[in-house]
Amino acid sequence: MTIKEIPIEALDVEKFIDEQCRALAVETENEIAVNALSGGVDSSVTTMLAHRAIGTRLKTYFIDNGLMRQGEPESVMETMTGLGVPVERIDARNEFFSALKGVVDPEKKRQAITDTFYKTVFGRLVRQSGAKFLLQGTIYTDVEETVAGIKRQHNILSQLGIDTESAYGYRVIEPLIALRKTGVRAVGKALGMPQSVYNRPPFPGPALVTRVIGEALPERIELVRRATAIVEEELSGVDAFQYLAILHEDRVTGVYQGARRYGNQIEIRCWDSMDAVLAKPTRLPFELLEKMANRITGEIPEVVSVTYNITTKPPSTIEAL
Ligand code: XMP
Repeated sequence: MTIKEIPIEALDVEKFIDEQCRALAVETENEIAVNALSGGVDSSVTTMLAHRAIGTRLKTYFIDNGLMRQGEPESVMETMTGLGVPVERIDARNEFFSALKGVVDPEKKRQAITDTFYKTVFGRLVRQSGAKFLLQGTIYTDVEETVAGIKRQHNILSQLGIDTESAYGYRVIEPLIALRKTGVRAVGKALGMPQSVYNRPPFPGPALVTRVIGEALPERIELVRRATAIVEEELSGVDAFQYLAILHEDRVTGVYQGARRYGNQIEIRCWDSMDAVLAKPTRLPFELLEKMANRITGEIPEVVSVTYNITTKPPSTIEAL
């Protein structure tokens, strides 16, 4: 299937919303559609659009995979219910961690998450709800990068020739697929969502797994979660496209309270970018970098080294997976 991009200059937001709402209503007929809300811009805007289009025929789930940032499950649920969209929280933490156990290869980690999400958890929810459709917030950049073989985005299935109807038992609908991030933000704004949602910095579907090099054990996810909270707090006022903390697989010798300690390494990345296709490291003030290093090593004693990435994308990618 060839997808035609709607560039931001050509996007008539109100017309887009109208057309997508009508198309969604027609396509799903009288059937139930399910929708996974991650809290990211794409999935939140998809949820809002579908809520407007099909109302109570939409069942929105928040899958708690145990891989989200600090306080994220609670705040995502609160925001959407505050906007009048009913959301059910599904505790799938054990299922995700079992699937990730022993997996270190980046593509296999993505595969483990894809399979757990679509087959195990969603398969079950679809069967229980009797839904025939799954709504997804896939955007044009996801398709481009996946088709180009740069990365396997977890929400790309049909572009890879995967027939979801025979593989998983439901059809996928992707109302935002012709848009890039700026277009999605404009649609979110027009749908009356708060700025904290439509302007939210991007966060990947596989969540903190994209920021743990090596095995994504619960304790390693927790470590990167704590570092992420510090980095996000310190960089929230910086004008950057995205910022994150990565936990390295290699350990390194450090000194802690006078004794040598073989500890963990955290890498900070902060990006200037328009749409995540090309990116440059943000020229952060050195004092800010030092402050983050001091806070991370001070508040997370398992970490003995903090570095800042100075590579552009390409050849780097934004995340580490
Ligand atoms: P990369 O790491 O490929 O990231 O330079 C580009 C943008 O995409 C986000 N990203 C993902 N988003 N599922 C998503 O929904 C994924 O599997 C995924 N991998 C990367 C990343 O955060 C950045 O904004």
